[in-house]
Amino acid sequence: MKKIAVLTSGGDSPGMNAAIRAVVKTALYKGVVPFGIYDGFMGMIEGRGKVLTYNDVDNIIQYGGTVLGSARCEEFRTLEGRKKAIAFLEKEGVEGLVVIGGDGSYTGASLLSKEMNIPIIGLPGTIDNDIFGTDHTIGFDTALNTVIDAVDKIRDTASSHHRVFFVEVMGRDAGFIALHSAIASGAEYALIPEEKTDLVKLSADIRENSGARRGTIIIVAEGDDAGNAMEIMNKVKPMLPGFDLRHSVLGHIQRGGNPSVKDRILATRLGNEAVHRLLAGETNMALGMKGDEIVACPISRAIKEHAMPDARLLTLLKELHTIGGSERALKN
Ligand code: F6P
Repeated sequence: MKKIAVLTSGGDSPGMNAAIRAVVKTALYKGVVPFGIYDGFMGMIEGRGKVLTYNDVDNIIQYGGTVLGSARCEEFRTLEGRKKAIAFLEKEGVEGLVVIGGDGSYTGASLLSKEMNIPIIGLPGTIDNDIFGTDHTIGFDTALNTVIDAVDKIRDTASSHHRVFFVEVMGRDAGFIALHSAIASGAEYALIPEEKTDLVKLSADIRENSGARRGTIIIVAEGDDAGNAMEIMNKVKPMLPGFDLRHSVLGHIQRGGNPSVKDRILATRLGNEAVHRLLAGETNMALGMKGDEIVACPISRAIKEHAMPDARLLTLLKELHTIGGSERALKN
């Protein structure tokens, strides 16, 4: 294999640059030419890319976003679009491909590999952590740190004014960010798409337990079945008379910023491994990390299976934020 291309696709995530850097530097170390494709599959269709040098990727490990650019590309779903992309890869003599992105990007990679005989390795790059076959995706840890920083600040107002805050975090299909940030920020509730939300029960719980709390924080995944943070707040308002309710949407600040140590190391290890695996003849594999071990599963399986947040964390949240029987007894 003489030339390996790398691209980033879908929503950007902190650590993508660290992964690109590791792919490029490892390829150079192994005597392979690294080739960067701009703006994901869109750039592949439009024939935009260049040979990357050591210098191109030096000094980028610390930055969020992706120096190659990214896109969500509808045209790649069409055969016509993919034909253009394949023609570009053939013209450039690309013999292996590393795709860094979420499950949409994995789907694109899988379609490509059916129509072109090119080895492909996928790396999980998304803040949502919703990729099967890895404990964590590249960017998840940094996004969580951003969320808890914001929630810590919101908590100051929530407790000073005895308010109930609905804080909306990203995750249109997945509740990993909501659940993990709720645990880490000491929020009282997490509403996630994977669990049916019962607003009557939530309101009753807030009424029952808020006496001992100075404020209440509910982290809402944007894809929750009961609605977004503002909609949920408006729905529970009539059930919480006398309560002061507010909502706050964290939005894209969660996707940016300098990657955490954890994301830099994860991305660097996976980027390095991707090149080794391509050179060893592997194809159509999605890499991930389980514990401290790099693992791989077929891209087709990573697309088909659903990554689920750990339900034990929901129980944990409940146990920590329900005022226990003994405290009730003491009060009475
Ligand atoms: O990267 C995934 C994600 O963060 C989702 O959680 C969110 O719904 C989506 O991206 C937002 O995407 P966009 O920036 O394209 O609006």
